[in-house]
Amino acid sequence: MTPGVRPLIAGNWKMHGTLRDAAALAEAVRAGAPAVVERADLLLCPPFVHLHVVAASMAWKPVALGAQDCAAQEKGAHTGDVSAPMLADAGCGYVILGHSERRADHGETDALVRAKAAAAIAAGLVPVICVGESEAQRDAGQAEDVVAAQVAGSLPEGFAAAKGVVAYEPVWAIGTGRTPTEADIAAMHARLRREVSAGQGDATTRLLYGGSVKPGNAAAILALPNVDGALVGGASLVAADFLAIAAAVAAG
Ligand code: 13P
Repeated sequence: MTPGVRPLIAGNWKMHGTLRDAAALAEAVRAGAPAVVERADLLLCPPFVHLHVVAASMAWKPVALGAQDCAAQEKGAHTGDVSAPMLADAGCGYVILGHSERRADHGETDALVRAKAAAAIAAGLVPVICVGESEAQRDAGQAEDVVAAQVAGSLPEGFAAAKGVVAYEPVWAIGTGRTPTEADIAAMHARLRREVSAGQGDATTRLLYGGSVKPGNAAAILALPNVDGALVGGASLVAADFLAIAAAVAAG
């Protein structure tokens, strides 16, 4: 944790479930949230078409709502895209941008991620910008430099003032059950802190770790310096697991 920074535990539901599943999961998180919101902010990021049922469940706002992507453009002839102002209008406060799955599936570049983040900020949303190296890049000793370049290329002007968030997600740790060692996470987050502070962020920018975060490893990861929360995939689809991860934030 970074002293004085409120942790954020975010669930990225990716492309899972039905409307009914989303409503039930949101309701279960909402029901358990009072026990953990003293320690951490909670954020749920369902698929676009499920945002409205989660927004309804979160009406009294113990938990924030976010989307998993937005367009770089404000409006117009962009079939299939969803704009940042639309997300704000739908009740979102946050948007995940530059997730490695979008970088891989849709060829998203740092420049596009930066443009999307600028659009998000203009719409009043908090961007959660994802960065992280591939396994080959880590094996080649390039992990920190890859992440530093992504930070330099993906964070727009105004990022610090918008309270933007950076999530470090090593690609090889996503959905695999493998995580870096605590020493490796701490080293990366120390570098991230330097790069973010030297760039568009500052010393209080929240730096999340993501990649196979589970109830069993959350306490150790969340206790590391410069780890200000988690971006959780698979475990966020089980309300009890997501809440257990949030509960693993040390009282402080
Ligand atoms: P897992 O928690 O399933 O590894 O996914 C991490 C992730 O990609 C969150 O954005």
